[in-house]
Formats: sequence, structure tokens, C-alpha cells
Amino acid sequence: MDISIFFLLLCLLQTLPQLANTFDSDTLGGTSLSIENRLVSANGEYSAGFFPVGDNAFCFAIWFNKSTNSTVVWMANRDDPVDGTGSKLSVLNEGKLILTNSVGITIWTTRTPALATSEATYLQLQLLNTGNLVLSNSKSVIIWQSFDSPTDTLLPQQALTMLSSLISKRSQDDYASGNYKLFFDNDNVLRLLFVGPTMTSLYWPDPWVTDPGKLPQRDPHNSSRHAILHDSGYFRSSDNFTFFATDFGVVTHRRLTLDSDGNLRSYSLKKMNRTWDWAVTWQVSSQPCRIHGICGPNSLCSADHVSGRRCSCLPGFKVKDHTDWSYGCEPEFSISCNRKDPSSFVQLDNVEYYGSDLTVYANITLPDCEDKCRNSCICKGFQYKFVVYNGYYFCYPKFQLVSGHHSPNFEGDFYLRVPKAGLSNNKSPDEASRLECSAKNSTQQRITYENKTVKLLLWFATAVGGVEVTCIVLVWLFLLRSSKHPNPAAKGYLLTNRFQRFTFDELRKATRGFKEVIGAGAGGIVYKGVLPNQRVAAIKRLNEANQGKAEFLAEVNTIGMLNHMYLIEMWGYCAEGKHKLLVYEYMEHGSLAENLNSNALDWEKRFEIAVGTAKGLAYLHEECLEWVLHCDVKPQNILLDADYQPKVADFGLSKLQSRSTIDRSNFSKMRGTRGYMAPEWIYNLPITSKVDVYSYGIVLLEMVTGKSPNGMHTLDNGETREHKRLVTLVRETIDFENAITMAWIEEIIDPMICGNYDKVKVELLVKVALQCVAENKDDRPTMNQVVEMLVSHEE
Ligand SMILES: *[C@@H]1O[C@H](CO)[C@@H](O)[C@H](O)[C@H]1NC(C)=O
Ligand SMILES: *[C@@H]1O[C@H](CO)[C@@H](O)[C@H](O)[C@H]1NC(C)=O
Ligand SMILES: *[C@@H]1O[C@H](CO)[C@@H](O)[C@H](O)[C@H]1NC(C)=O
Ligand SMILES: *[C@@H]1O[C@H](CO)[C@@H](O)[C@H](O)[C@H]1NC(C)=O
Ligand SMILES: *[C@@H]1O[C@H](CO)[C@@H](O)[C@H](O)[C@H]1NC(C)=O
Ligand SMILES: *[C@@H]1O[C@H](CO)[C@@H](O)[C@H](O)[C@H]1NC(C)=O
Ligand SMILES: *[C@@H]1O[C@H](CO)[C@@H](O)[C@H](O)[C@H]1NC(C)=O
Repeated sequence: MDISIFFLLLCLLQTLPQLANTFDSDTLGGTSLSIENRLVSANGEYSAGFFPVGDNAFCFAIWFNKSTNSTVVWMANRDDPVDGTGSKLSVLNEGKLILTNSVGITIWTTRTPALATSEATYLQLQLLNTGNLVLSNSKSVIIWQSFDSPTDTLLPQQALTMLSSLISKRSQDDYASGNYKLFFDNDNVLRLLFVGPTMTSLYWPDPWVTDPGKLPQRDPHNSSRHAILHDSGYFRSSDNFTFFATDFGVVTHRRLTLDSDGNLRSYSLKKMNRTWDWAVTWQVSSQPCRIHGICGPNSLCSADHVSGRRCSCLPGFKVKDHTDWSYGCEPEFSISCNRKDPSSFVQLDNVEYYGSDLTVYANITLPDCEDKCRNSCICKGFQYKFVVYNGYYFCYPKFQLVSGHHSPNFEGDFYLRVPKAGLSNNKSPDEASRLECSAKNSTQQRITYENKTVKLLLWFATAVGGVEVTCIVLVWLFLLRSSKHPNPAAKGYLLTNRFQRFTFDELRKATRGFKEVIGAGAGGIVYKGVLPNQRVAAIKRLNEANQGKAEFLAEVNTIGMLNHMYLIEMWGYCAEGKHKLLVYEYMEHGSLAENLNSNALDWEKRFEIAVGTAKGLAYLHEECLEWVLHCDVKPQNILLDADYQPKVADFGLSKLQSRSTIDRSNFSKMRGTRGYMAPEWIYNLPITSKVDVYSYGIVLLEMVTGKSPNGMHTLDNGETREHKRLVTLVRETIDFENAITMAWIEEIIDPMICGNYDKVKVELLVKVALQCVAENKDDRPTMNQVVEMLVSHEE
């Protein structure tokens, strides 16, 4: 009876640190900012904190709080929002800011060199009255500042330099990176560029002027590349471009923003009917349709009094992507290049298409111009324009139709090439134009996280479920162990052995001051040490960047709960201030990777390692209800004990996960190691336990062939290709049909094995491995099935 009470207590104790993951007081104040906190500038006008950008989606941002609606002036993770429970921004001692999401994955970090330890004291993160977020050291030297990495806005005194650029938002209320960029080009000239899905195009200063020396006002010789908006409303760039805001001299708040429509505008804060709002005091272009890329190819932009501008498709074309006009329109007809089926032309008055000329013909009649276009397969239409200065018409046949706009002031027409028979359904080009030009359908595009409470409940349920299962496992284990060790001390042994908390001093002594490095895994360095009870241990000292105390305790709990013959055993941990260490059993023979390289493994051992590793992973996936994925299965993480029995190690990357398919948003950064990563990581597909199966398959192939998926190719063409090659190599060599000779085995098997192998087992391993590395995750077996396949053959 008292045994069950003891376990009840043990289970309750285990629950506590997990709850702390959500309610940890460490994350408030101190060295990190959570969703609930924010920094406010001394004048109260700027705030820095987690800004909501969708349902339970937040970006760390600085916003101006005096206008009616908050104005975001800077964002850290605009393309990678985090969720609302447990995400935080932390100041690391080495002088870095790091933004982590609820599962402790780093989403964003500053890229400043690490500080020497002498400088790394009294770091201060401060939001200045200018809206600049500054990280400085005790000597008030600035280590990092948000002014150095603008997003879409420059504030007064914030310089645009050769290292920075402004990138527009996607749309009015989608803060992700959009299609427009303000930057200093290679010729030192400040320019605006459209970067679309299919093309890029400079649109300011006027691209017709190709010689930068001839640009009005612009000086390409000053290479300092520096532009700044002064408090007075005067803007000056080192290429001699300047402007004065219309309210120049007035003392007010100002900003220069590259808006989502590609227009660069200066704004001033004005009082309007007792509320404060931003008024435009300068802009690059008063003709929104002159800005490139707005409507995409084969479309027309026209000015609209209500929405500013409107996009429509050319007659005979249809919209390609209803949610994003930058993809433009595609033709509903096709023009054969057959002379016998000549095309005709549709005239569009006062329409101009920018650039993309095949050539130019001067002083040419309209029929001749039509013929010139007909004679070229790729001619999509032509511009026909009278130039008063020359006194005759010019003809510009075009190979693509981009940045088209309709403007009554334009002295010329466009002739669109269509099939001879004309257009089948002659709808007016305006029919499609009711679609707004506001780029992306932002509600659809925005990243939404699952409802906060539901997620919390789900998480809680999983955690409690996990604890229950662990309790059962523990009771079972305890009974097992106590039957082996019938003395009453067994109780204490189990507890201290499995969950001992060490002090930092104890571990420093155990490792003799962290002297003997035996490995470097994900997130930390591993040292050899001798514990006070004389047992040899592997002590992993986690990088400080790794995670907060709450996540650490949660992870320790996860690892501590897992107990399996083929999993590395954790004996204890230390969490003291910034020091976080894990104490594991020591494995005499190091990692599988080292042993493969040193030729220490004969075929028999390799097969045993394959089976043991599979059993360890199967336990992780199935017996633990699939809430732990390894995500970094590779030979470096498979350790070998004195008898060369494998133990899967390094759960540093695995986290508590719900049992079903894992929400990809929890894995916003790829995990794993080049060469071993499943295609799902690369193609953004849901992450399930099958990613481990894939990596395991690669490890099997490596054990059979002795070839590393990374080592053999110098080509650096991205991961997929690299490990596909080891797989392809094996696939192309095998010949299961040829059962008698099995000559293919000789071709692929590791030469170090020197012919001493069991052909049947090689064949089995290769067969299993190839199933595991199937491109489609559903074609891969589960780890349990792998174990079955390998074991059934053993008998
Ligand atoms: C703006 O600041 C005031 C206090 O100065 C605060 O009460 C309010 O919540 C802030 N609004 C936003 C959107 O940050
Ligand atoms: C403020 O935001 C609301 C809701 O997003 C919007 O309807 C309103 O037009 C905005 N006001 C201004 C002045 O931008
Ligand atoms: C810079 O601009 C000023 C006037 O704005 C002009 O007088 C001067 O010649 C320009 N310099 C160059 C190098 O273009
Ligand atoms: C280059 O531009 C910088 C910044 O605008 C200015 O201070 C400097 O005088 C310019 N140099 C020359 C040679 O014009
Ligand atoms: C201010 O309010 C008046 C009447 O309520 C209205 O006519 C005017 O347009 C408003 N001005 C601004 C800038 O909103
Ligand atoms: C334009 O072409 C016409 C007919 O070919 C010719 O008579 C005329 O002289 C040309 N004009 C010029 C300026 O070349
Ligand atoms: C945006 O997409 C959502 C969901 O697909 C749809 O309900 C909504 O009508 C769309 N809005 C616009 C403006 O297209």
C-alpha cells in the first residue's frame, strides 16, 4: 500500500515542473520578455513586445502607440510568427537576443559576435524615445540596435545604409515580407525594386534613364551609401537625392515607410478631429499604376478613386491566382505559330506596357507593325505610338506584357495579339476588375495557431496522459527491480538513481573542471566525469542559448521518464542559474559513427546494432504513445556500450508532442542533420514519427555500405539530392531477383567487412532500409514493423 502512495507522490512531483512550462515565473521580467510583458520607452510613445498578427500568432515588434491604431515600425520575425503560449524574447549573457517559441525552438536571433566574458555583465535592453531598441553593456556600448535592421520603416535619425534595406509588407494587414524593396544598388544609387514571383524590375528612379550619371539629382560617385530622414522632414541620401516633407520644419513625429503598394511615403503625425493619425507628407509616385508588378503579367492597372488602383485581365485572359494579383493573368487561347492561321489584334486605347521590347521600328505604318509582330512567334502584341518630336509613329513589339497600365494621358495605344478568329467570348476587360488590388487575401494567408485554450488543454491532457503511462511503467519497473533487489533500499535507489539533482559544484568536480570532452551533441558539449558514487558518467553541458528553466525541466522530465534497454539512461541533472547540465550513463565504445570509421564492427555486431536501435526508436514512438520523436537519428546519436549494444542518445531535440500529426508550426525550424533528414522537412509537409523511420533507413544503408550520406559527394546542391544519392546508389545496384549469386551485395557492402557476412541478413537489412527511405511517408513502415521484420528473420 505504501508503495502506491509513494508512486502517487512521485507522479505528482513529476507533474509540477511540466506545469511550470506554462506558468514559470522565471520568464517574467529578468532576462526574458513573454507575451504578457512589453518594454515601453520613457516618453510612453513606443512599445516593444509581442504584437498580434493573427489568431494566436505574434511577432516581436516595436510599435508607435500614440496614433489611433498602433503603427508597427519594426519587426524581428515578420515571416515566422510565434504562438501565444510560452514564446519569449531572452537576453543571453553572450550579448544576444533570442526569440523562442512555445516549444523552445529559436525563431530569430541577433547576429552579433559573442562577447568576451568580461564584457558580458550587466547587459541592458532598452527601448529609447526614438523607437530604437538597444542592447548595451555596462559601459553603455551598443551591442545591437533595431535601427540597424529596419523592416519597412525608417524613423528620424535611423539611417539606411549599404547593409540595410526596407522591404514592404505583403498587404495592409499582413506584416510578412512583400514584393517591394528600397536599397542602395551596386552603383550607389538609392532605388526601388519590385521582386515578383516570376520577375524583378526596378521602377524608381525612372528606369528609362539607364545611365546613372544622367539621373536628375543622383550622384553615383559617392559610395558612402547612407540615407537619413531628419526630424525636420528633410531627407538626404548620399547619392544626392533629397526631399522636403510638405510640412518641413514642423515639430512632429515622422516616419518613412515603403508601403505594401510599392510607394515610398513620408508620414507625419497630425491631430485630426481630436485623434492622432498619420498624414502623407511626401511620396515617390503619385501614379500608383506606374509602380511595377502591381497587377502581374498580362493585366492592366488603372487608377481608381476608391481603392487607389484596380487590376484587370486583358481580354481573353483569366486571373491566375485569385488571392494574389502579382501572379497576373493567363491566356484562355493559344496562338499557333502557323503562318496559315494568322493572328489578329485587339486595340486598347491609352494603354502602355513597360519594357520587354523585341525591337523598335521607327516611321512605320500600322499594318507593317502588325506584320512585324505576326512574323515573330513570341510577340504578344505591340505598342504603337506617335512621337510629335519626330513626326512619325514608332512600333514596339513585345515578348511579355508586364507593368501594364491604362492612363488617359498616355499618347499611344496597345495592340494585343489574339487568334485570327478573335476571342471566343468577348467579355469586357472590366469584368474581372471588381477584384480588389490589395495583393494577398490576408485572412487566408495569415498563419493561425490553434486556439490557445484548446492547445493548452490538449497539451495538458497529453502531459497528464504521459505521466499516467509513465507511472504505470514506473510501477512495473519498480516491481521488476524490487523483485531483483528485495532490500528496502531499492526504493531510494530508484529515486536517486533516476532523478538525482546535482549541484553545479558537484559536476564541476566530477568532470575535474570540464576537462575531458567526449562529444558535442545538439545544444551542448559532453564531458566525461566520475560521480561522487564512483560511477563514470557522460555529462552534457547545454549551451546557454538552449532554453529557459521551464523547458529544461520539461525536457529532463521527458528523458527521465523514458526507460528502455536501448535508450541511453539519464541519471540526473543540474539546473543552477544559467548552468544546465544532464548526467547520462557513460558508454564505453562511443558512437556508432566513430566505430564505423574505425572498422571496429563486424557484420554480426552491425546487425545487432540495427535491431537494437530499431527497438529503442520503436519504444520512443509506440510504447510512449508517440509523444516523443527523436528527429535527429544518425550514427553520432547511437552510442555503444561495453558489449557494443546500441543505445539511442540525445533527446535534446525531442519534445513533448501531441500524439497525432504534429503541428508544423511547432517545428518552424528544420531539425536534424543534413543527409539524414526526411523529405517532409524540405517540402514543408506534416512531421510525424516517419521522419525518424527515414533517418533510420539512411543509418542502415550507411552501416551496410560504410558510406556516409554526406561524405561521398562534394557537390553542394541541397540536402535532398545528397542523400538521395546514397539511396539511388543502392537502389540501382540491388537485384533481389538474382537470388542465387547475389553478386550485387559485393558491390555495395562495406569493404571493411571483408566478405564475412550473412547474405540473407544483408538482403534483409537493405530491403528494410529501402522501405524506410521511401519518399512518401505513408510508404514507410513504422518502427514497430521494422523491429518485427528484423526479428522474425532472426528466428
Ligand atoms: C498604449 O499606451 C497606453 C498607455 O500609455 C496603454 O494603456 C495602451 O494599452 C497602449 N496601447 C497599445 C496598443 O499598445
Ligand atoms: C484602425 O483600424 C481599424 C480596424 O483595423 C480600421 O477599420 C480603421 O480604418 C483604422 N483607422 C485608421 C485611421 O487607420
Ligand atoms: C546635388 O544636388 C544639388 C542640388 O540639389 C546640385 O546643386 C548638385 O550639383 C548635385 N550634385 C551632384 C554631384 O549631382
Ligand atoms: C557623400 O555622402 C555623405 C552622406 O550624405 C556626405 O556626408 C559626404 O559629404 C558625401 N561625399 C561627397 C564627396 O560628396
Ligand atoms: C472631422 O469631423 C468633421 C465633422 O464631424 C468632418 O466633416 C471632417 O471630415 C473630419 N475631419 C477629419 C480629418 O476626419
Ligand atoms: C517616313 O516614311 C515615309 C514613307 O516611307 C517617307 O516618305 C518619309 O520620308 C519618312 N519620314 C522620315 C522622317 O524618314
Ligand atoms: C479570403 O479568403 C477567405 C477564405 O478563403 C474567404 O472567405 C474570403 O471571402 C476571401 N476574401 C477576399 C477579399 O477575397
